[in-house]
Amino acid sequence: MLNGKRILLIVAGGIAAFKSQEMIRLLRKRGASVRCVLTEAGARFVTPLSLQALTEDRVYSDMFSLTDESEMGHIQLSRDADLLVVAPATANLLARMAAGLADDLASTVLLATDKPVLAAPAMNVRMWTHAATTANVETLKKRGVAFVGPNDGVMACNEYGPGRMSEPEEIVAAIESLLAQDRPLAGRQALVTSGPTREAIDPVRYISNHSSGKQGHAIAAALARLGAEVTLVSGPVTVADPAGVKVLKIDSADEMLAACLQAGAVDVAVCAAAVADWKAAKPTLAKIKKKPGAAPPTLELAPNPDILATLSKPGSKRPKLVVGFAAETENLVANAIDKRKRKGCDWIVANDVSPATGTFGGERNTVHLVSAEGVEDWPTLAKDEVAERLVGRIADRLGRPRPAAAAE
Ligand code: PMT
Repeated sequence: MLNGKRILLIVAGGIAAFKSQEMIRLLRKRGASVRCVLTEAGARFVTPLSLQALTEDRVYSDMFSLTDESEMGHIQLSRDADLLVVAPATANLLARMAAGLADDLASTVLLATDKPVLAAPAMNVRMWTHAATTANVETLKKRGVAFVGPNDGVMACNEYGPGRMSEPEEIVAAIESLLAQDRPLAGRQALVTSGPTREAIDPVRYISNHSSGKQGHAIAAALARLGAEVTLVSGPVTVADPAGVKVLKIDSADEMLAACLQAGAVDVAVCAAAVADWKAAKPTLAKIKKKPGAAPPTLELAPNPDILATLSKPGSKRPKLVVGFAAETENLVANAIDKRKRKGCDWIVANDVSPATGTFGGERNTVHLVSAEGVEDWPTLAKDEVAERLVGRIADRLGRPRPAAAAE
């Protein structure tokens, strides 16, 4: 249900903070990734270490930490999330949100975000029913903040009434219903290739390229966020596996082709991998020795299979939509137009990989979408924005799957 969704969980200081740990477990079980912002007061109830262990990600607390700000600023924390969840939302944090304060990392992220926000209040019954809290909640609701709870019950202070934070299952259900509203690729199968391939020359040396996998992995993650069931076939990369995506790790082009065919029939295939066009014709089992005085050995090459062209072949198993990439250093668009026709795919995403562009391994990309209808020039965007845009177009093209009885 939450495959590939990214939740930024803000844990404020209340006794209910202990429930955040069970919530993280439930969210991750459903395929979401969770990143935590822990307030100073929150850290009195749960430790950063326990949240870090459960999320398998670092925990963010300090607004002025140089490392946090350089590695993951408050804008980026919110940009990387599909939903911000404040649980527990204390009376104090709700008041600061309503007033628009930005005096710690949590309130700054909440002020800077353009993503949906869900708050799970938790406080003493008198604090919850106080006119100030009622007014703050009204203000926040008017601004679009969604609320779950609080529930009636006995509280830690032994009083009875509304103010108990909703149970983790209830909060997760509220998250699911908020995020379910926009999953146009639910029921669709997708295949993505990403990263470089490595072609062995001997057990020590190989032929490869500079692909980091950032662009391909971002596409796999974006497809999963829109509800698709995604298989990602990845060459050797250091970027993390996207949440909610099945990852098949390979080294060579031959292995990549085998893994793609193993993935079975899909609705859409996106080939973003930088596949080596050639491999060593006769890789050796033992390391090729350097012999003193002898001339350097000659490397004989053999062609690799073309995965994109194979997937594009007409037939009943052909995906409804096949998207390739074109990595060029000259005549970008003209070569991409030619490549689309030669390989038989529907769309080609053309990008310049000359060293000066920083496309290989960088955070941003400037692409042109080439289709039978023509060429669209996109502005320079972060790679995850290129992915969002491309996947939006894929969703437009594929639309929602038909009900089972009417399916092809
Ligand atoms: O990984 P990053 O650092 O984020 O960089 C992203 C990227 C530059 C690698 C990516 O945006 C990109 O351009 N990927 C395609 C790289 C490439 O191999 O382009 P090409 O023009 O050589 O190949 C054209 C298409 O055929 C590609 O879709 C490629 O995946 C596919 N191909 C190529 C050769 C082959 N033997 N089999 C293939 O399937």
